[in-house]
Amino acid sequence: MKKKSNNLNLILIFCIVFCSFSFANNLNTSFIDSTDSLKKYYISLFNIGAAINKDIILGLDMESKHIVESQFNSITPENSLKWMFIQPSPNSFNFKAADKYVNIGLINNMHIVGHVLVWHSQLPDFMQKIESKSEMNNHFESHINTVVSRYKGKIDAWDVVNEAFNDDGSLRESIFYNLLGNNYIEKAFKLAHDADPKAYLIYNDYNLYKTKKRGGVIRMVKGMKSKGIKIDGVGVQAHWSLNHPSLDEIEQIILDISKLGVDVLFTELDISVLPNPWELVGAEVNQNFSKFEGDPKMNPYKEKLPKSIQNKLAKRYKDIFKLFIKHSDKISRVTFWGVMDKHSWLNDWPIKGRINYPLLFDRKYQAKKAHKALIELGSINND
Ligand code: XIL
Repeated sequence: MKKKSNNLNLILIFCIVFCSFSFANNLNTSFIDSTDSLKKYYISLFNIGAAINKDIILGLDMESKHIVESQFNSITPENSLKWMFIQPSPNSFNFKAADKYVNIGLINNMHIVGHVLVWHSQLPDFMQKIESKSEMNNHFESHINTVVSRYKGKIDAWDVVNEAFNDDGSLRESIFYNLLGNNYIEKAFKLAHDADPKAYLIYNDYNLYKTKKRGGVIRMVKGMKSKGIKIDGVGVQAHWSLNHPSLDEIEQIILDISKLGVDVLFTELDISVLPNPWELVGAEVNQNFSKFEGDPKMNPYKEKLPKSIQNKLAKRYKDIFKLFIKHSDKISRVTFWGVMDKHSWLNDWPIKGRINYPLLFDRKYQAKKAHKALIELGSINND
């Protein structure tokens, strides 16, 4: 009898040990170690964030959600606040995903970003068909007012206008420019400010390392400031590659923008490791390179990323962050455009169906060498 109960005890102990071992193992398959948290090292310098997609927002990708909650103190919705999803048809708003997005930020006490109020891309069909100034004006006013008011006091910062300039510094002939004229940008900022006077307001664009384009943005900011229109920061998208733009070019953006008396933000950071068709630079989402689809030369790391490129990526991120740390007094936020490689938009842009590796976490949710490099850098800086 005694022997039997001893056996039972042994079985019980074995079960407990085995179960806890396999539980720990399961947890290890996702990123758990909160001691290696980016926010721990960078939060004293600038907000550190990630764009989160709908699966994360709806709780369908809990591994990524856990990474976001343990690594970052700021979030941006990758798509869920864009016009086509928020107001798919005239005056009919759908705030389901956006409300959930904002709740994640509130529960975790995060700096919550609203992306984006005015952008020529990802507009609903009805907006693209508008032909009259007054109709455009009505939708423009009501969209900004409705969306900003709904999240007043909850969304901390808004990308008010996105990508309004051409590379030569002139204003892009978007549907907003064509129907409302060149002061539509000021108007958008005023409307956002009226709807939530405490919200932090950002102009956001890509290719700001290009002197002429930056010149256009600088003129606009100066103009707005001279008229007393509130603008708090310029967002630099930062969809970059392993060698481009140069560190000097990035530094020049920081210096020139901060001179205006507004913050610099790196709002959409990711580093592509793949070949760049036509030496493509920037982030014009409408460019079409479909002729390269399936071309193996354009998709060289289908199976895995060679160690040498993994190292280059880590070094590139480290060099960029050294610069960010040097100028942290001018930078108010750095946000990665996504959480892990598999879900990055760069697998499908500018060529569909490639395998890219632009972020800090790999396809198995593990921290990459680039993440470790940034932790190392942050910890030296915090000594
Ligand atoms: C991208 C999203 O990541 C994709 O999922 C979507 O299909 C297209 O838009 N500049 C921006 C972002 O300001 O909103 C874009 O996001 C990337 C380029």
